[in-house]
Formats: sequence, structure tokens, C-alpha cells
Amino acid sequence: MNIIIFGPPGAGKGTQAKKMVDFYGIPQISTGDILRANVREGTELGLAAKAYMDKGELVPDEVLIGIIKNRLKEEDCEKGFILDGYPRTIPQADALATILDEINKPIDVVLNLEVPDEELVERISGRLMCSNCGASYHRTFNPPKKEDVCDVCGGELFQRDDDREEAVKNRLTVYKRQTQPLIDYYAKKSLLVSLDGTKGIDEVFEDIKAVLAKFA
Ligand code: AP5
Ligand code: ZN
Repeated sequence: MNIIIFGPPGAGKGTQAKKMVDFYGIPQISTGDILRANVREGTELGLAAKAYMDKGELVPDEVLIGIIKNRLKEEDCEKGFILDGYPRTIPQADALATILDEINKPIDVVLNLEVPDEELVERISGRLMCSNCGASYHRTFNPPKKEDVCDVCGGELFQRDDDREEAVKNRLTVYKRQTQPLIDYYAKKSLLVSLDGTKGIDEVFEDIKAVLAKFA
């Protein structure tokens, strides 16, 4: 199964992608996680990306297209993949179509998680992330069993730099301007399935499984 999980910042893309990895055994490709790993490791890419990320701006298309092109050719994508956070612009979506055409792996479905802005802000401001495996928690909605420790790997939890209020507002604006047009783009290709992302984490996952039953 070749899946795109789509939605505004905080919609639950990462949370649901991790559940899909466990259930379907296909990898999650999160461009946000890849960029954050580069920032942590202090690579040239990470240093260049950090300035954009901290302001809530998108990292330039050519950087992301290069990352995705290499990642999709890795062996673990043979059985399928879950794209999380990519594509985010029309040029990124066009580049993806070309790459997937070349390797003969068409997208089966684009899962669009719909959540209103007020709830997005509440979710993002309470989010905690694992510094080791990237798992995402919420102080109220999805707390870790032990304070500030990841349930999955025991890693330390932290608040992302771009989860500060100013950056969050800009991320929502950037989403509306640059990313939302992809909803029409994929609807026209008959690939879009919109889901109510305001339900509980497990309920959303049940809805996702019902959609994916056709493709498994
Ligand atoms: P990225 O890491 O992709 O961030 P994002 O799209 O803003 O998405 P988030 O990670 O904030 O949210 P999510 O939808 O994964 O929600 P989550 O599951 O964590 O990108 C970060 C930055 O990197 C970008 O701003 C940009 O600079 C750069 N970048 C990345 N990709 C790029 C690209 N392709 N092109 C250019 N630049 C790029 O959930 C959020 C919170 O809500 C958590 O606390 C969670 O526990 C909670 N939650 C989840 N589901 C529920 C639920 N159903 N009910 C209640 N709480 C819930
Ligand atoms: Zn972890």
C-alpha cells in the first residue's frame, strides 16, 4: 500500500502514521522527522533547514524533493510506504508523481485528516515529542505513562521549537496558502478520502483501517 497521510499541522498525521506502521508493517516517511534528525545531528541540511522550521516556514522544494527521491528508493519501501508531511506544495506533488512513475509505485490513497484551527492550536501547544524515536504525545489527550519519558523507547520527551505560539500561527497560515491546494489536486485524481480527525486517536485509526481494507 502506498499512502499519503495529509492534513494541517497537529491534525494527527504522525500519531496515525505510527499506528499504521505497527499494524501494516510498512515504513513511515516523515519529512519533518527527517529534517529534525538532521537538525539534531548538525548536518549541513539541518543547519539550512532549522531557520525555516523555527519560523514555521516551508523548507525549499528542491531540498525536500531530493530527500524523498532517495528515501523512496530504499529497500524497505518495496511493500509500500506512508508519506507523512510530504507533499506540501504543488511542485512537490508533481515531483512525487514523476518519481513514483519511474519506480512504478502509484499512490493508492490520500487520507486527509480534517480538524478545525482551534483544536489544532490546543493539540500543538500540549504536544510532547520523543527525542529518540519521534513518537508524539499530548500532555492531556495522550499522556506518556511516566512523566517526560517515551512509552515506546524510554527516550526523553521535549517540546518542539516550532510549537511556540508565533510559529504555530505561521504554520497554519503557510498550510492554508501553500498546502491546502493539494486537497483539490488529489480530489481531481480521485485519490482523496477525508476523515474526521477530531475523533479520539483510536476511533480515527478504526476509520483509517476501514478505508485501507480495500487496498491491503
Ligand atoms: P512536520 O513535522 O511535518 O509538522 P506538521 O505538518 O506541522 O505536523 P505536526 O507534526 O505538527 O502534526 P501531526 O499532524 O503529525 O500531528 P501529531 O500526530 O503530532 O513539519 C515541521 C516543519 O518541517 C515544517 O513546518 C517545515 O518547516 C518542515 N517540513 C516538513 N516537511 C516539509 C515539506 N514536505 N516541505 C517543506 N518543509 C517541510 O499530533 C499533534 C498533537 O495532537 C500530539 O500532541 C498528539 O498526541 C495529539 N493528537 C493526535 N491525534 C489526536 C486525536 N485524535 N485527539 C486528540 N489529540 C490528538
Ligand atoms: Zn521514543
